[in-house]
Amino acid sequence: MDVNQVRSAYDAASRQYFERFRNELDYKPLDRELLIKFVAEVRQDGLLLDVGCGPGHVTEFLRCAGGKAIGIDLSSVMIEEASRQFPECHFQTADIRDLPFENCSIDGIVAFYSIVHFPAEELVDVFRELARVLKPNARLLLSFHAGTENIVVDDFLQSGKPLRFWFLDPDAVQHSLTSSGFTIVSPTIRDAYPEEHPTKRCYITARKSQNVFREPQGASRGL
Ligand SMILES: C[S@@+](CC[C@H](N)C(=O)[O-])C[C@H]1O[C@@H](n2cnc3c(N)ncnc32)[C@H](O)[C@@H]1O
Repeated sequence: MDVNQVRSAYDAASRQYFERFRNELDYKPLDRELLIKFVAEVRQDGLLLDVGCGPGHVTEFLRCAGGKAIGIDLSSVMIEEASRQFPECHFQTADIRDLPFENCSIDGIVAFYSIVHFPAEELVDVFRELARVLKPNARLLLSFHAGTENIVVDDFLQSGKPLRFWFLDPDAVQHSLTSSGFTIVSPTIRDAYPEEHPTKRCYITARKSQNVFREPQGASRGL
């Protein structure tokens, strides 16, 4: 991914993104259902991450569903926006490929449209980092645009900044997940809702396999 392009675009579009997507879960029944199920399946008081949280509306939904969630995003301006909008949630700036959490410390990760700026060949590195911080058997819930093309939006949400989006082949994403220490629980593909950009949407729930990324004592990273 072009990390500078992505950070700069989301820094510039944070307010517009919030205004555009703040209520999107209202018209997305499948997303709501998956998020509620996800929270219900995590043990009580388990720590969740909403990685690539943007302006925090999904983190807030997780909190309202009973989850203890931290929102993480590359864009510090997005994180400021999220913290302002949802003061009851905790947010932190970090890169999905270098999360500030110890090995095997997290009970579940949601990543809605957070991998859409990565080409398929970079996903194994992303998923390995997610597997590193998850506890064995803990779940990951991903969503992305299904396809094989990539597009550049010249003026992302009227921010004046360009932004490249990668559509991803669901089979290739599942293969990257299994290569990174995950077991697939359920893939789901749906058509766009009328309010959405007309792309096919893919959701994958995966579980960290039992025996990967168990670290020897003293090898885990500090916060
Ligand atoms: C399409 S938005 C999705 C935001 C939110 N999850 C949602 O569903 O509306 C992608 C988000 O991922 C973040 N992001 C992109 N690359 C990232 C990275 N390497 N590490 C952390 N966050 C990243 C962007 O800053 C942006 O907020």
